[in-house]
Amino acid sequence: MTKNGVSPNKEIVFSTESLHKVHEIIARYPEGKQKSALIPILHMAQKEFGGWLDVPVMDYVASLLNISPIEVYEVATFYTMFNMQPVGKYVLEVCRTGPCMLNGSDQIIEHIKEKLQIKEGETTKDGMFTLKPAECLGACGYAPMMQIGKFYHEHLTKEKVDEIIDLCRAGNIAID
Ligand code: FES
Repeated sequence: MTKNGVSPNKEIVFSTESLHKVHEIIARYPEGKQKSALIPILHMAQKEFGGWLDVPVMDYVASLLNISPIEVYEVATFYTMFNMQPVGKYVLEVCRTGPCMLNGSDQIIEHIKEKLQIKEGETTKDGMFTLKPAECLGACGYAPMMQIGKFYHEHLTKEKVDEIIDLCRAGNIAID
């Protein structure tokens, strides 16, 4: 297996079910505008191919949409929700924009760094956690907050972060 969980010589191909969904998404757009389906398909690719977008995966997405690979790279590298390198099972996306910062996101980030012994952007050796500071995630009224998978964790304190990390380690936290 490679670092992204895909066998080295295994062709990168969506499952039959996912391919069906891909064609359904593409069909929502007029002929020649298939690029509009790029973001939802990148989300599917990230989920299906190991949690990040390796170049061969982005090239595969480009071939599905009949667009050039550079068009996929441009979008994938612009949005922080796409991972450009392998990540842990739990990606702790801690918002650090104004309202969260004023409510202590810096201390939350420092606490996570110290607790997990990783720097920003790094993954723990056991592959469990990645710390990924993020820009405003639209939950400013619940600052400081972080996103893990599809879910928000709000009004964070160091104690609450410890609880969340324990729940992750116990496999008791939803991400999807
Ligand atoms: Fe953190 Fe908006 S500033 S969610």
